[in-house]
Amino acid sequence: MLENPQRYTVTAALIYANGPIHIGHIAGCYLPADIYVRYLRSTGKDVAFISGTDEHGVPITIKAKKEGITPQEVVDKYYVQIKQAFSDFGISFDIYSRTSNQIHHETSQEFFTKLYENGDFDEEVTEQYYDEVAGQFLADRYIVGTCPVCGNPNAYGDQCERCGTALSPTELIEPHSMLSGSKPVLRSTKNWFLPLDRMQPKIEEYVNSHTEWKTNVFGQCQSWLKEGLRPRAMTRDLDWGIKVPLPDADGKVLYVWFDAPIGYISMTKEWAAEQGKDWELYWRNEQTKLVHFIGKDNIVFHCIIFPAMLMAEGSFILADNVPANEFMNLEGDKISTSRNWAVWLHEYLEELPGKQDVLRYVLAANAPETKDSEFTWKDFQTRNNAELVGIFGNFVNRAVVLTQKFCEGKVPSIGELTDYDKQVIDELAQFPDRIGQSIGNYKFREALGLLMDLARLGNKYLAETEPWKVVKTDPLRANTILNIALQISANLSIVCEPFLPFTSEKLRSQLGITELFNWTNAGRADLLIEGTVLGKGELLFAKIEDDEINIQIQKLLNAKRMNELETKTVPELRSEITYDDFAKMDIRIGTITEAERVPKSDKLLKLKVDDGLGGRQILSGIAKHFTPEEIIGKQVTFLANLAPRKMMGFESQGMILMAEDRDGKLALIAPGNAVWNGGTVS
Ligand code: MF3
Ligand code: ZN
Repeated sequence: MLENPQRYTVTAALIYANGPIHIGHIAGCYLPADIYVRYLRSTGKDVAFISGTDEHGVPITIKAKKEGITPQEVVDKYYVQIKQAFSDFGISFDIYSRTSNQIHHETSQEFFTKLYENGDFDEEVTEQYYDEVAGQFLADRYIVGTCPVCGNPNAYGDQCERCGTALSPTELIEPHSMLSGSKPVLRSTKNWFLPLDRMQPKIEEYVNSHTEWKTNVFGQCQSWLKEGLRPRAMTRDLDWGIKVPLPDADGKVLYVWFDAPIGYISMTKEWAAEQGKDWELYWRNEQTKLVHFIGKDNIVFHCIIFPAMLMAEGSFILADNVPANEFMNLEGDKISTSRNWAVWLHEYLEELPGKQDVLRYVLAANAPETKDSEFTWKDFQTRNNAELVGIFGNFVNRAVVLTQKFCEGKVPSIGELTDYDKQVIDELAQFPDRIGQSIGNYKFREALGLLMDLARLGNKYLAETEPWKVVKTDPLRANTILNIALQISANLSIVCEPFLPFTSEKLRSQLGITELFNWTNAGRADLLIEGTVLGKGELLFAKIEDDEINIQIQKLLNAKRMNELETKTVPELRSEITYDDFAKMDIRIGTITEAERVPKSDKLLKLKVDDGLGGRQILSGIAKHFTPEEIIGKQVTFLANLAPRKMMGFESQGMILMAEDRDGKLALIAPGNAVWNGGTVS
């Protein structure tokens, strides 16, 4: 572990540009990264905060195929959308670029060439599935078949999503191509492999030198190492991606997990060029601390494969830490893009404008740091109302409003201190270091808890000193109290900045702070100078009402319903019957002439049906689907020889036949053209 470095390269996973981002991505990766970086900057460190979109790989081509557009159109669309959402949310990347840039193609090809020339790759011919109809090799994801473990008929060539087993395409039973549906054939092809098996001792040494890594990360690495690393192909037979820079490599591209992490380097180059800086300081200087923020599904790539690539290349530093998080669930269910079970960042920003910090707060408070966690809208509301409004906002507001009221809106003078004042000032002084240490150790929930404790300290101080009473008898004492309360508020504006940057900004202007205070000033009780004019007071946080939350909950319920509909299948056929069985039913056509609700029943309508025989009364459980008015005059089909029975005190002489739609709605079954009443169905 690098102690007290002055320079940091901090990366956040290059997300696939094949869809918008949701709260799971933010809580797992981008928010912790942003908190960490904002803190480092505040302490005066030199930081490069690098991220962008991953625009190669099969996930992009699958999305393109699904939407009927080109892969280029997919990445162009989502790059813009994702970048905008991050920026509106206050994620403070130094650069947010993309792996389709020229400089990235060059950097990855150079990297590959260097390894090739060093003799680091094993050239190997293997058998891969080939689609003869589509005329191309098939990525694992493009092969579907039956899972040998659980029998799921829709397992992919790399994984069965039903039972979670990792598969290889040749293990699938009855494989077929997703492109053409045809049965793929094995064809031999040459690829370049990184011999992770031979590199294992060096990789082990690296991982084992980082026992300080989070247990979930360290543990996952150990289990990979224990199984024994296997050579991994760094090239693929695909057409979407970065061309393999070798003469005999037509139709081959770099493996997406080869090029994507190199994106961190190429994007640093791009940023440094824009800023007139030397990119090599951020990747080739042993005094620079490299930290990768990722979600747990990316651990092996960042802790084993990418470091192995960097070791082979030889001129780059390796990650000092990879603080991967677990996953965040939503309202009791896994977040899922395909099931639309997510809170999408761009929608949140639009539907709850100005509330970036509320979401930042709730996601940081529930960050899945050590185990999977949960987001619910009720918790979102409670944390806003009870914690942000009730504790943080309440304290600052009281300090500011009392100052407006009793001190003409200026920072009052500080007089003689009581023991209690001294104690509070003492406690205040310790907060910045404690919060900073938690952030430095990637314990963001803990840090946020401490931040709130500082606001609690302020509240307690006001509650116990009661300046609003004291002012009547001892205005100078009230001045001292309010001065201290304002100093606590000023400190809050500094230490809340990594978590709540928008609030920090508002708070600074309310307190009339014009200096560039940062972490190095924090802890002092003399930040605000006597006589400083406060800005106008506005509430930092607003209460969130049930209505706002209910809209969001309803949206999720709708998504769930849509999903259920989509997965609903046509019911299986009932067992066979004979014609004689059928002929027992006397099904006829009639016209509804009267209809009314049955009192005390929300289901039943009492109908009069003209059956050509003088009419009959039928009770039908359709009141939730039809109003009496809309069905009067309609022709229907009914079962005419069903034994009569009493319902809610009325006799029903037959049964109206209805068709049930996928969503449970009922439709009348009427003849295609008018038929005389009494006409039989056979
Ligand atoms: N595109 C990958 C994903 O979304 C992450 C790539 S991270 C990088 O899961 F290291 F490769 F850049
Ligand atoms: Zn399975």
